[in-house]
Amino acid sequence: MALLEIKKAGDPVLKKICAPVDKIDKRLRRFLDDMAETMYASDGVGIAAPQVGESIRVCVVDVDKKNRYDLINPVIVYREGSKVGEEGCLSCPNLFGDVERAEKIRVEYISRFNKKKTLEAEGLLSRCIQHELDHLDGRLFIDIAKNITQGRKKTEE
Ligand code: CO
Repeated sequence: MALLEIKKAGDPVLKKICAPVDKIDKRLRRFLDDMAETMYASDGVGIAAPQVGESIRVCVVDVDKKNRYDLINPVIVYREGSKVGEEGCLSCPNLFGDVERAEKIRVEYISRFNKKKTLEAEGLLSRCIQHELDHLDGRLFIDIAKNITQGRKKTEE
């Protein structure tokens, strides 16, 4: 496995609409493992392919360090409720802001072994998946967040 370079806000790759993956093979699985390693090394809970320079519809999410999801061609097919919560992003170091997201979602995706899957998510997992899927459409949380601050508000109070 290998650590990948994380692209920062301002890099044009973060603004592109990513292309669907059409081939799920060893190479893609290695890339997913590298993304995961990069995410864990940066203490993140999610990472999307454009953040490491690949404009493809893939992201890795793990909000409790126990359940890692590799989402290939993910699509949100159901949303319920709405909730405002604080977010940050590995591509926007030390920036935090409040983002309104759906409270519960259902996502359809392809697994790393080419199986069609459905995932129901709420809480932090739901928020994180919505944040990562935004990356696949060239959207950063700072484009839609309110009350953006340097550093976490909680620790500044
Ligand atoms: Co992000």
